[in-house]
Amino acid sequence: MKNRITVFTLLLISGSILTGLTFEEPKQDESLDLQTIMRLIYTDMQIINEGIYTENFNLIEQGAAAINEHPPLSDETRALVKKTLGERMPAFGQYDKLVHDTADSLKVAAAERNMESVLDKYQIIQQGCVSCHASFRNEIIRARSVN
Ligand code: HEC
Repeated sequence: MKNRITVFTLLLISGSILTGLTFEEPKQDESLDLQTIMRLIYTDMQIINEGIYTENFNLIEQGAAAINEHPPLSDETRALVKKTLGERMPAFGQYDKLVHDTADSLKVAAAERNMESVLDKYQIIQQGCVSCHASFRNEIIRARSVN
């Protein structure tokens, strides 16, 4: 009898852990506007930064992965960006790709515990963020506020 109760309790516990996990899974299909995504990846950069100064490579890996796994852009924002930038859209896409690809390399560098390479990749990402802002940010903000 006691054994049965133990088994039942164990089942209950593992059951709630499993359902708990399903509930906490990030909702990948939840799209967001560009400004919100930017705030999120800014937080990821801060996590990476903390990892760099505390030599916590796990944090760096975590932040780099999160940059790549940010939620998708909402259809509305995508349309606004396309309409605003027109034929300059590929340039926008290239900055985005540069940041994503380099975040991948940063993750690898962190997994290899290679601080020199981490710093190198971090700088390339930062340059990518700032270059895209310098080229397009004001224009998108303006378009967003008149639409
Ligand atoms: C492909 C272009 C592009 C890249 C790459 C990019 N951004 Fe942005 N970012 C934008 C645009 C456009 C806005 C303005 C969005 C708006 O206000 O609607 C913006 C806005 C921001 C803002 C201001 C958000 C606010 O609250 O107003 C932050 C912070 C930010 N980006 C951080 C980053 C970081 C960190 C990276 C690199 C890891 C990055 N961005 C890479 C285009 C880019």
